[in-house]
Amino acid sequence: MSEPLLEVRDLRVGFGGGRDFFFRRKERFEAVRGVDLTIRKGESFAIVGESGAGKSTVAKCIVGLQAPTSGEIRFEGEPLRVEADADQRRAIQMVFQDPYGSLNPRMTVGSAIGELLRVNGVAADKEAARARTAELLGMAGLPAAAMDKRPRAFSGGQRQRIGIARALAIDPTLLVADEPVSALDVSIQASILILLKRLQRELGLTMVFISHDLAVVKQLCDRVAVMNEGVVVEEGSVGEVLAHPKDAYTQKLLDATTELPPMEISELGVVAAPPGETRG
Ligand SMILES: Nc1ncnc2c1ncn2[C@@H]1O[C@H](COP(=O)(O)OP(=O)(O)OP(=O)(O)O)[C@@H](O)[C@H]1O
Ligand SMILES: [Mg+2]
Repeated sequence: MSEPLLEVRDLRVGFGGGRDFFFRRKERFEAVRGVDLTIRKGESFAIVGESGAGKSTVAKCIVGLQAPTSGEIRFEGEPLRVEADADQRRAIQMVFQDPYGSLNPRMTVGSAIGELLRVNGVAADKEAARARTAELLGMAGLPAAAMDKRPRAFSGGQRQRIGIARALAIDPTLLVADEPVSALDVSIQASILILLKRLQRELGLTMVFISHDLAVVKQLCDRVAVMNEGVVVEEGSVGEVLAHPKDAYTQKLLDATTELPPMEISELGVVAAPPGETRG
């Protein structure tokens, strides 16, 4: 077993509390109630659970978008701080659920990714940024010409490919994908999942994959943590947990799962956007 990359210890996140505008006491709600996770280098780790379980809140803490109320997150053995140093932050990137909301509509794809490259010192000048952007788009199955268009010119699947290219731009070690296909048409979900899995393998990335679909997790992930109401109720290898669930809640999720046909990871290199995914 490889060594831990990310360790989450007794993570707690509460919302509300305090007083509102009229000094009335606000109800305090604990969305995450003492979560422990160990994610090992190179693995694909799933967090599953129903809506409201606290999955996104955990993900946001990992990528630094949410400050924990208490607990600790260690990355490569070092405590992860909310105002973390640049190196720690760039090593952890996120693919968002909503490819529409996560791209700036006013910027071309090339300027958005190019800016990220320059700010992080990955590309020295405009030329280098364009070359690297073309390479990243290619990895995500998009043509280099996509660079000169704005997000509205793309379909949902293509936008998520752009989101993936952007997440990979500064060579992350850990990719956190929060329901990366749930906003997409069912017909294009598999191609995006296959792309993520292939990139994860080829680039040797560690991936935290959040989903409420156990059938997808079965095909994509090595280990899984099942969350319910802010706690991890069960954790283990995907094979073990899905074949012999120990927790009643896991069994309930499994009962609601329909089997998927196996996904083939293309050996031919890039998984290009299928015809249904293209627009204009
Ligand atoms: N900023 C916030 N303020 C108040 N409550 C919040 C906030 N963010 C999340 N919550 C609450 O915390 C709980 C967990 O939310 P979270 O988004 O982590 O769930 P989730 O497991 O990702 O669900 P889904 O599958 O619907 O995405 C929910 O009850 C949610 O309403
Ligand atoms: Mg969520």
